[in-house]
Amino acid sequence: MERENWTSRLGFILAASGSAIGLGNIWRFPYITGTNGGAAFLLIYIAAIILIGYPVLISEMAIGRRTARNPIGAFKKLAPDTPWWLVGALGVLSGFVILSYYSVVAGWGMSYAVKSIGGFADGTDFAALFGSHISSTASPIFWHAVFMFLTVAVIGAGVVNGIQKVVKVLMPMLFLIIFLLIFRSLTLEGALEGLIFYLKPDLSAINLQTFVDAISQAFFTLSLGMGAIITYGSYLSDRDSINESAGFVIFFDTAVAFLAGFAIFPAVFALGFDPAAGPGLTFITLPAVFAKMPLGALFSFLFFILLTIAALTSSISMLEVVVAFLVDEYGWNRKKASYFMGFLIFLVGLPPLLGYSSFSNFRFLGMDVLDTYDWFSNVIFLPTGGLLTAIFVGYYWGNTNAVEEANKNSNFKIGSSYRFLIRYIVPAAIIIIISLSLINSI
Ligand code: PHE
Repeated sequence: MERENWTSRLGFILAASGSAIGLGNIWRFPYITGTNGGAAFLLIYIAAIILIGYPVLISEMAIGRRTARNPIGAFKKLAPDTPWWLVGALGVLSGFVILSYYSVVAGWGMSYAVKSIGGFADGTDFAALFGSHISSTASPIFWHAVFMFLTVAVIGAGVVNGIQKVVKVLMPMLFLIIFLLIFRSLTLEGALEGLIFYLKPDLSAINLQTFVDAISQAFFTLSLGMGAIITYGSYLSDRDSINESAGFVIFFDTAVAFLAGFAIFPAVFALGFDPAAGPGLTFITLPAVFAKMPLGALFSFLFFILLTIAALTSSISMLEVVVAFLVDEYGWNRKKASYFMGFLIFLVGLPPLLGYSSFSNFRFLGMDVLDTYDWFSNVIFLPTGGLLTAIFVGYYWGNTNAVEEANKNSNFKIGSSYRFLIRYIVPAAIIIIISLSLINSI
């Protein structure tokens, strides 16, 4: 069968931006920025995105387009009879594992969207509400199943008729919702204080860990190191520019992460809450904020829909990696591969889901099951995948090949700075963050 191509450059940019913009932008970025030095963190993060994220993003797109294959097939094609295909295999494995718990969290988001409709009563104990939600079983399993089903349905429908069609509707919706939320948040009395908290450069909060956080976040948020971008790049036609498309993806991804903070912090401060709640910000602090806000039920609903949309346009890119592998390498029918893999991933998601109930005794390095899955993905799989990809391009396949592929039909050309970054800076930075994260967790 003829391999599908995105039918327009916009289709590819929206799909790749959809993959990039996810829970990492709406849930994680605002709180790590708020607690890590505000504007000072932002500058380090932007440097990480440009110096490390951009070259790896371009490399993955180039590998994908040159080979027109899933990550395993791509490495096999560029480096036949070598073990390089294992880098692709690590990607497929990461897609599998990340999606399994990502869907659990997205399911919490969907369930909160539905809970929002009736409005949250002011004075509810939101920490207790969240605790009782995640430690129950029926509802989280139901929503995890619904979310996986949506992901499977999109991927089963194909690249153009599934992914591209869906992102063309969902991405504009995502932007619209985020602007509505920002408008609401900024027009509350006392909003300014939140902006000050979010953006005030606090140099004393900057240490080595800040750099580690910025670089890991750059990887996760751009969907790098696991072949999602290789796979999306494999459907890119030769007419389109890689350098410029990658530039748009970076711009949209950074803009949404940055804007999410504007939707959140002014409201948190205006209604008198503590912003340093860390990961609990989304499911504990925000519902409390919405409960106090005029038209809170509506805005709460919109916020959790935003979270769901962002998660769905990312989850489809993870499932696509796994499905493209079965379709390319074993000739599976796309629908069958989607449903089969979707079901397996649903099952693999059950342990992290039950980690707050039946499996609550499980501990790995002090973490529950979900955090363990997340730790393996963020500390081991993605950085290792990114490191090996950079080494592959810089020293094996040849950065000249990558540059040639990336510059095809691009007005903006890359060259010696890309070569320097991919050979030296990217590997060094990743080795440092993997080592530091390992030392920190053990
Ligand atoms: N980039 C997504 C986010 O920020 C997560 C993701 C990682 C998606 C890896 C695809 C692949 O939430």
